Amino acid sequence: MKSYSIKELLKKQPVGDSVEVNGWVKTFRSNRFIALNDGSTIHNLQCVVDFENADEALLKQVTTGAALKISGTLVESQGKGQTVEIQATAIFVHGTADPETYPIQPKKHSLEFLREKAHLRVRTNTFSAVMRVRSALSFAIHSYFQQHGFYYMHAPIITGSDAEGAGEMFRVSTLDAKKPPVDENGEVDFTEDFFGKETNLTVSGQLEAETYAMALGKVYTFGPTFRAENSNTSRHLAEFWMIEPEVAFNDLDANMDLAEDFIKWIIQYVLDHCKDDLEFLEGRLSDEEKTKPQNERSEMTLLGKLKFVVENNFKRVSYTEAIDILRNSNPNKKKKFQYLIEEWGADLQSEHERYLVEKHFKCPVILFDYPANIKAFYMRLNEDGKTVRAMDVLFPGIGEIVGGSQREERLEVLQQKIKALDIDEKELWWYLDLRRFGTAVHSGFGLGFERMVQFVTGMGNIRDVIPYPRTPQNAEF
Ligand code: 4AD
Ligand code: MG
Repeated sequence: MKSYSIKELLKKQPVGDSVEVNGWVKTFRSNRFIALNDGSTIHNLQCVVDFENADEALLKQVTTGAALKISGTLVESQGKGQTVEIQATAIFVHGTADPETYPIQPKKHSLEFLREKAHLRVRTNTFSAVMRVRSALSFAIHSYFQQHGFYYMHAPIITGSDAEGAGEMFRVSTLDAKKPPVDENGEVDFTEDFFGKETNLTVSGQLEAETYAMALGKVYTFGPTFRAENSNTSRHLAEFWMIEPEVAFNDLDANMDLAEDFIKWIIQYVLDHCKDDLEFLEGRLSDEEKTKPQNERSEMTLLGKLKFVVENNFKRVSYTEAIDILRNSNPNKKKKFQYLIEEWGADLQSEHERYLVEKHFKCPVILFDYPANIKAFYMRLNEDGKTVRAMDVLFPGIGEIVGGSQREERLEVLQQKIKALDIDEKELWWYLDLRRFGTAVHSGFGLGFERMVQFVTGMGNIRDVIPYPRTPQNAEF
């Protein structure tokens, strides 16, 4: 007998075929109707038990969460909500799930509760839908770049440099933590460590990607990155995935064009390929919205938001213009912002980014030309001497989803910057070599993968879009 996935079966014509299917029980009603799911789709397959001839002891084992193999005939369904069902002729129980202890019962569980059961939460509709969309989105990302002449580059995970210069790194060491070797100044002697120097988990693959862009032309990385920032927010993880394209000869305008085209393309891909899951997630989100006070509810549905992003141009605004808008905004004048915008040079917080996107422009925004001193060392200095060719893409509900820039390609300017920031030039000798040998204008950006999954699935907390979230005080599983 041929074994099928539920996704395949639900598309088959009910021709009376004998079929076999494996999956987990979602519900079992009236000792007759098993709703089976195998993860291939959000939809369950209804399996009808011939209970006159059924083995009662066996039926007792058919409880939510049990793994079954069901064989039978595929027939047209009498019930609502599905076109086909299986008239079961044989049931094999792979494994039972004791209803007394199995935590994922057929009722509404809170997302917080499910975070404590991260190893089982993917058996719920919400998490299976999110994780299928996450998978499709990563495929879309590779497809976009592969179809547009980019090469996939694997940046190292262990590095000796701090690309962002923010000092938020996890050290990688084999030294004895209790009794590390010390040098004559009493400092830990990292020359005795595994790599003979201090090393960390990477915060970004950008610097290495730049070296590859300066030979292969167009490259992208897509890998895990790590930040030891103590941010307990709904948009920060200590371990997250980042996509970093880097393109030789692109200036900031071309970089913005690429970011916008890329983002629209991957969202369209998910709209085209994840219809069932998105419809489910749209329903979930609108139920969640109903629990909020009227004035906090989103006016758009999930699919509405996705289509809106694909169909409209992102608004490009300089940092200086944005500061003017924010300074004169109602929440600033009425002191509603937690951080008031007083002068040019202020770093923007998520509340400001969201005001610009959600209240002022009502569309995705690309902010560019930020003050040099709130951005990383590698960004190209503008003629004004005080702003850099930086860009952040801001999204509704998320805030910053992409951060990027045109890179400083002039050796002396970069050296001055490194010196001014007290970065050890010796650590970056190889990065500076790019400016010594065949330097050229080049640009790139980083997309936070989980923030994009959040946007596409409508999930409010970043912990719910990655299988096993790593956050301060939390590395279970
Ligand atoms: O703005 P960031 O720090 O930029 C870079 O790392 C550059 N090297 C990128 C480049 O130009 N190649 O990070 C890029 C994006 C952010 O816009 C955000 O979406 C995401 O990465 N991000 C995080 N996502 C989840 N948790 C965190 N702690 C994040 N930090 C940044
Ligand atoms: Mg940033």
